[in-house]
Amino acid sequence: MNSISRNPVSSPIRPKPANRESIHLQPGIIAARKGRRFPWSIALLVSALYCGDPLSDPKVQERRSQIPEQYQPGFDRFIENNCQACHGLTGDGSGPLNSSGRFDIPDFRNPGSYRHGVSISEIRNSIEFGVEGGRTGMQAYQNIPPEHLDSIAEYIRWLQKP
Ligand code: HEC
Repeated sequence: MNSISRNPVSSPIRPKPANRESIHLQPGIIAARKGRRFPWSIALLVSALYCGDPLSDPKVQERRSQIPEQYQPGFDRFIENNCQACHGLTGDGSGPLNSSGRFDIPDFRNPGSYRHGVSISEIRNSIEFGVEGGRTGMQAYQNIPPEHLDSIAEYIRWLQKP
């Protein structure tokens, strides 16, 4: 007696078409998973190392503690949007992306170095629409929500204090 000949008659559990389909798909899924396992783990590792909450960086925290509470939300948005990569943690223009001096970046602490206006609304415009269509290195940030643009502009304006 062999189970194959008996199976269609006596087995109460006959695979439904949906089950059969998933069985057919499985080798493909397994292959895809196998192929992806390595890059995904690397991606996770990289994100854990480099893309973890930038606000939890001790240097960022230290800088934040020197800022009056009302401007801290603006500072947080400044960090979240990676503005410090060019403009630097203190706004002096010495961010790591400009280590080669490639960009001509104003010092936010010095009103005389701004080229596109020192008022909150002018600063906000520079952020929202960029400078010269981004050719200067300063791109438009139209993805930043209006209230965040406001708080970043207020923070940058505060940096101009004597
Ligand atoms: C890739 C580098 C880079 C990044 C990132 C960057 N900027 Fe800029 N930013 C520049 C440069 C370069 C200028 C000067 C443009 C010019 O006038 O030639 C500038 C100019 C500005 C100005 C105008 C200053 C003036 O001269 O009037 C403001 C305000 C500003 N940036 C805010 C921001 C904010 C806020 C962020 C993040 C949301 C940001 N930038 C991200 C490079 C950058």
